[in-house]
Amino acid sequence: MNSVPFKKSILESWYPIMSFDAQALLQEAKALQKELVSIRRDIHAHPELGSHEVRTTEVIRNYLESLGIEIRPCLETGVLGVLYGGQPGKTIGLRADIDALPIQEATGLEFASQNDGVMHACGHDLHATALMGAAKILAAHRNELHGNVKFFFQPDEEGSGGAERMVKAGCLQNPKVDAVFGGHSSTGQLAGQYGLKYGKTYAASNPFVIRVHGQGCHGAYPANGIDSIAVACQIVSALQMLVSRRISATDSAVVTVGSFHAGTAGNIIAGEAELKGIIRTLGPQMREKMCRLVKETAEGVASALGASAEVEIRTSYPGVVNEDAFTAFVHRVMISLVGEQGVALKATPNMGTEDFGYFMDGIPGCYCAFGFGDGGKECRFPAHGPYFRANEDGLAYAAALHAAVAMQYLNENV
Ligand code: NI
Repeated sequence: MNSVPFKKSILESWYPIMSFDAQALLQEAKALQKELVSIRRDIHAHPELGSHEVRTTEVIRNYLESLGIEIRPCLETGVLGVLYGGQPGKTIGLRADIDALPIQEATGLEFASQNDGVMHACGHDLHATALMGAAKILAAHRNELHGNVKFFFQPDEEGSGGAERMVKAGCLQNPKVDAVFGGHSSTGQLAGQYGLKYGKTYAASNPFVIRVHGQGCHGAYPANGIDSIAVACQIVSALQMLVSRRISATDSAVVTVGSFHAGTAGNIIAGEAELKGIIRTLGPQMREKMCRLVKETAEGVASALGASAEVEIRTSYPGVVNEDAFTAFVHRVMISLVGEQGVALKATPNMGTEDFGYFMDGIPGCYCAFGFGDGGKECRFPAHGPYFRANEDGLAYAAALHAAVAMQYLNENV
């Protein structure tokens, strides 16, 4: 069915017409709310660190199996599920991360973590639960679906990039995924709302190590050696010039030197120094440019001062750049559920990182925000902290959005 673009309602809010009844689907999700809360509290009480999500994997796998969703082998933890629609068509991937953080929970909630020193402090319990809810809704509608839905319950987002490993293990193939969608919980936004950013959304990251080789000597006679500490200080200073003077004021990058080690005693000129840091950039061009500039600057400064610098730059998370057309599509689906006023369009990207970008491997994708806030009452504590709390009312809305994106993507224009 062809979708008609938009209709204006009498409430000054508009709801685009979908190929399905979006409000009915939202009600279906809300009918699951109680079940979702109990799933979420169970997962929250039993958090597991990246690549150790054994129990969580079991819970998710059993749930999907009970819905008749095929489970594919992928990684040791995490779940790859496939729901085949009743009609042939495209395939969409829906992703949720499932790992917890090494934090001692201090919320005092009745369903607080039972695992010492481990806590769902980034909302991945919410993400996993919402996607389970979406799986239930979509499974109930499987006969209407023109195509397939793949569920990526991804391990180890916080640690070493479970997304990359899932993609390498072939989760995007057979059937080939045409687009991928996911989102992160945000307590800065009310439950019942969504957040969206077009284009550059999360930063790419490149950790680096710079080894400065000078020449050690007696501290009284620095001219007899090359002081690696003095050289490394100049490198740190020069790196600060990259963001302020080598890229446009309207572009964004962060170059942080977070570790500086050299020397053994106060009366010895240190021969070696080691700097460690991270380059964060938005978009592939800026990434390439900043990596090149860090290397050139470190090597150039060291050589100008008689030392040499060995620069090692690793490639880490690729960043998230939401594809325009697919993001506009997601935007329309969001509005169909919560109206125009329920969608916060974000102007600025996040210089943090998120490994969702690995799934956008040559295919369009969109990573959004699900509101889990309560206006700053109980849910005012930051993520990655021991007091983090979320408004569970957001669960049904997050589940509904996953399901609605999949349903519309598969059934639009068929
Ligand atoms: Ni997170």
